Amino acid sequence: MARVLLENVGKIYDGKVSAVSNFNLDIADGEFMVIVGPSGCGKTTTLRMIAGLEKTTTGNIYIGDILVNDVPPKERDVAMVFQNYALYPHMTVYQNMAFALKMRNLPAGQISKRVKEVSGLLGIERLLNRKPRALSGGQRQRVALGRAIVRNPKVFLFDEPLSNLDAKLRVTTRAELKAMQHRLQSTSVYVTHDQAEAMTLGERICVMHNGVIQQVAGPMEVYERPVNTFVAGFLGTPAMNFFTGFIKLKNDTASFVIDKDTIILPQRLRTVLSDYHNKEIVLGVRPEHLSLHQFPGRINNIISATVNVVEPVGIRTDVHLTNHNGKKFVVCVGPYTKLKANDAVKMYIDQEKIHIFEPGETGKNVTISGSTLT
Ligand SMILES: Nc1ncnc2c1ncn2[C@@H]1O[C@H](COP(=O)(O)OP(=O)(O)O)[C@@H](O)[C@H]1O
Ligand SMILES: [Mg+2]
Repeated sequence: MARVLLENVGKIYDGKVSAVSNFNLDIADGEFMVIVGPSGCGKTTTLRMIAGLEKTTTGNIYIGDILVNDVPPKERDVAMVFQNYALYPHMTVYQNMAFALKMRNLPAGQISKRVKEVSGLLGIERLLNRKPRALSGGQRQRVALGRAIVRNPKVFLFDEPLSNLDAKLRVTTRAELKAMQHRLQSTSVYVTHDQAEAMTLGERICVMHNGVIQQVAGPMEVYERPVNTFVAGFLGTPAMNFFTGFIKLKNDTASFVIDKDTIILPQRLRTVLSDYHNKEIVLGVRPEHLSLHQFPGRINNIISATVNVVEPVGIRTDVHLTNHNGKKFVVCVGPYTKLKANDAVKMYIDQEKIHIFEPGETGKNVTISGSTLT
């Protein structure tokens, strides 16, 4: 196992398409790092550069203590698991798993022992004589995983390996993958566009946007202290609500004026907002931090609104609302709510859970200090 270090790594395709820029990431030995971001943000490119399948345009990549910029993929001792599994269709499961070991000229006895061991770990012993076409999607995915594990590589690289599975299987396989990584203590870099997968799997997650790292931190840290509007809006379902309004400073109090409603902001924000009087700003609040009931011990700010749609999800109900000014937002309430379309309601905002962002797609979160913005 090994540490993976990327220093100022950049990739420009064909001298014009900038896919990744100024990428700095230090992945500890044995860590499970998830790189997450929307399609096209440069995740696969980053992974392929670590694997050696793509040359870096700038910067350095280290695996262990070795600078691998010019080391061919075969010699990097990494194993990559792809979204489409990339199994050899004409080989059996056993042969697929044994292939890399055979290439290394391992004795047949050792290969067989290793394949048996790993297939036991993944619960695919009974499939060893089948060809990939006789397997379900979930089974193929396990074989692809097994093929990577038998090699006992320094680093595992996963490129959206669960995307082709149906929703239920994706969730169970995700949990198994996490348990397995815990057991193997292997350095893993896992790429996904799925924020729920990132949150559940990552020890740390690295959020990317347009080829640039936005934030690197533990899942709850990123969720609770997003450095900008992009990260705040990307993580969480339903997504964070954003309201555009103005800051008013008066004596000791900072407030946020949105249409007819005034939101009193927590005292701790008074100082950081001292330059924002009368300036346009974006208030962010997650759907679970709005409620029909007062928050005990807090200043209870209210947004008046009308219910558009009530969506029971089972464990909770998502309520879609519109304020006076036509601004739409979403609130999560308990599963047995009596709310229905066209009801006029007052929603309480948990004052302590408010974020204030500068305007713009990646507007900075001014309510957190010591951010990991790079
Ligand atoms: N081989 C290539 N040649 C030119 N452009 C590419 C190539 N591969 C990817 N790109 C571009 O680089 C950007 C990042 O792509 P990619 O790394 O595949 O993103 P992701 O995996 O996050 O969806 C995209 O704009 C994509 O079109
Ligand atoms: Mg990709």
